[in-house]
Amino acid sequence: MAERINTAVIGAGVIGKRHVDEIAHNDACRLVAIADPSPEAAAYADALNVPYYRDALARDDVHAAIVCTPNHTHLEVGLACIARKLPLLMEKPIADDLDSARALADAAAKAGVAMLVGHHRRHNPAVRAVKQAIEGGRIGKLVLANILCLMYKPDAYFEVPWRRQPGGGPVLINLIHEIDLLRHLCGEIVSVQAVTSNANRGHEVEDSAACTLTLANGALANVSLSDTTSTPWNWDTTAGEDRALFDYRPVPTHFFAGTDGALTLPDLALWSYRGKKGRDQPIHDTHLSFVAENVYAAQLRHFLDVVKGDARPVIDGHDAARTLAATLAVVEASRTSRPATPAPIQ
Ligand SMILES: NC(=O)c1ccc[n+]([C@@H]2O[C@H](COP(=O)([O-])OP(=O)(O)OC[C@H]3O[C@@H](n4cnc5c(N)ncnc54)[C@H](O)[C@@H]3O)[C@@H](O)[C@H]2O)c1
Repeated sequence: MAERINTAVIGAGVIGKRHVDEIAHNDACRLVAIADPSPEAAAYADALNVPYYRDALARDDVHAAIVCTPNHTHLEVGLACIARKLPLLMEKPIADDLDSARALADAAAKAGVAMLVGHHRRHNPAVRAVKQAIEGGRIGKLVLANILCLMYKPDAYFEVPWRRQPGGGPVLINLIHEIDLLRHLCGEIVSVQAVTSNANRGHEVEDSAACTLTLANGALANVSLSDTTSTPWNWDTTAGEDRALFDYRPVPTHFFAGTDGALTLPDLALWSYRGKKGRDQPIHDTHLSFVAENVYAAQLRHFLDVVKGDARPVIDGHDAARTLAATLAVVEASRTSRPATPAPIQ
């Protein structure tokens, strides 16, 4: 393999362009192809002076691919990369249904091709700090997590028809990030109860949801979700991961309550009693320290380590399929008005 990793970006829309930017700032890789059938992508590649292809895999000196195509194409594009033995960073969700997710994860594992899935929050240092604190017992036994994912998507967002239809709503677009974060920080989800509503926007797809999850360790979690509420209480606004795209207000949105203390994200407040515990006692707060960094750059660095064989993906195909299974359980629970169990994966 050449010194720099020859990387192709397949699908140069919103997130594809972000990856292109990150590649340009990383000396360990080189962008050798942009592949996307749209004329806009051809013009974009031309403006960057990057070779443009309808099919990047036609080129035989590509060492790694970043797949940023629409969800329903992930299976086909991913299988093509795997057939070429190309390590890949597959954007989230791994696929738009569980059969496709399983097929992709199994194919990568069977072929021995490394696949990292783009649940980028796992590369956020604030998330890493909270994970260490929870696992290190800083809040005792986790009892309850409470997550707010409440935003207002501008009206123009809904001009694209699929965003008004089942599968295009906040459950599969936004909640899946919260579910992955919960699994990463707090453990597996074993049961899901949920109610969804489309009463506010009146689209076929939900605009809001209230979800109660039971975790394998016995803890509970609540997630409040809406794309029609005017609040700052959503990760995009509070975590500051993409300040060019979203306003930045670092107020807490993720609450982790344990028997000995409590933590919030993204501000990393740690609350606890210094002596006797009890609501009649003073409770103190301090802040965990962390060094903020560009999460998409951190994700790319990790991917390149995976490509070189120096690291295992922090989230591989089967892990990402579990996140999808738990997210789809929310859809099922809401449809049947009964608790749902995430479908088993491998
Ligand atoms: N991790 C994140 O923060 C994040 C953010 C946004 C989107 N995403 C994910 O990234 C993916 C793309 O989302 P987006 O918002 O960038 O979409 P988008 O519609 O802006 O871009 C998708 C691009 O893929 C191209 N395309 C379609 N089929 C293709 C094919 N077979 N081969 C090559 N190119 C093809 C389209 O022409 C388009 O330019 C989705 O899976 C989405 O869920 C992740």
